[in-house]
Amino acid sequence: MKTPQFIQIHHMQLEAVRQELLQGLTANPQPGGASTSPKFLYDALGSRVFEAITELPEYYPTRTEAAIFEAHGGAMAQRVPAGATLIDLGAGNCNKAASLFDRFIPARYVAVDISVEFLRNALNCLQRQYPALDMVGVGLDFSQTLNLPPEVGAPDAAPRVLFYPGSSIGNFTPTEALAFLRQVHQACGPVAGGGLLIGVDLIKDSAELEAAYDDALGVTAAFNRNLLSHINRLVGSDLRLADWGHVALYNTDESRIEMHLAAHRDLTVHWPGGQRTFAQGERIHTENSYKWTIDGFSQLLREAGFGQAVTWTDAATPEQGRFAVLWASA
Ligand code: AVJ
Repeated sequence: MKTPQFIQIHHMQLEAVRQELLQGLTANPQPGGASTSPKFLYDALGSRVFEAITELPEYYPTRTEAAIFEAHGGAMAQRVPAGATLIDLGAGNCNKAASLFDRFIPARYVAVDISVEFLRNALNCLQRQYPALDMVGVGLDFSQTLNLPPEVGAPDAAPRVLFYPGSSIGNFTPTEALAFLRQVHQACGPVAGGGLLIGVDLIKDSAELEAAYDDALGVTAAFNRNLLSHINRLVGSDLRLADWGHVALYNTDESRIEMHLAAHRDLTVHWPGGQRTFAQGERIHTENSYKWTIDGFSQLLREAGFGQAVTWTDAATPEQGRFAVLWASA
């Protein structure tokens, strides 16, 4: 049996993280107000609460995407070259990619995630199920730049298939998404047959969208509010969970779900070396989740350098789809 190789690229610089968070927290109400990067939603507890979100009746993306892979995996396998290096961006528990191994038959599986410790577990388990598959775990925060280590391609010249499911691309603004997809296109490398398989959440009725991000059980609210404990641990602040409420709203002009934390009362937050007051109702913007049309996203892929995309959705006609999986050759 082979054993997975692990590479940690990005050791979180605690001081840099502190600076990033405090800069966001102290931003003036005008123009944008306080905000934090959605990556801070994923501490150990946040990652587990997110897994719970994917099981909520209101949160359709995960199960809709799974149904698309289930129904159209055969057609996808006709596009995705066998013997490829499959590079999974934000692999997490690696379940989505693993469910496609029997169809896509990759020669190497590269799981990339900000948390290499979470990967270590998942990959070691997976290796037992696929003893002959080459596996590499890469700890990397690719939200700024996608800098894959050379080990990803070595030693053979297999085509590279980038896998970016779950509509995580929605965390990027359209401008950032274009820049990111250009890097993904680069990462596909020069070998013929490579490309990108990506999951994208589609624009739909705002009531359905808002329910998916403000579920009746309050799990998404817990996911959002858990950010406050994570911030307290990272910067030594005294944010109190009881002071903040979950807000999720669909911004039609920007085609995005926004998550915010809103102060229940006038309050002051302190941390070593600083403080900030929030008025009642004032918000911290904690996440954007952009929604796309199939045409809009296909166009974006073209602008990033990919070929014309092939699309699969959960509906008979693509216009009625709630979620889409796209294959774009490099
Ligand atoms: C992991 C970014 C795809 O935007 O739907 C779920 C995160 N936030 N509920 C999404 C999330 C609130 C999720 N992504």
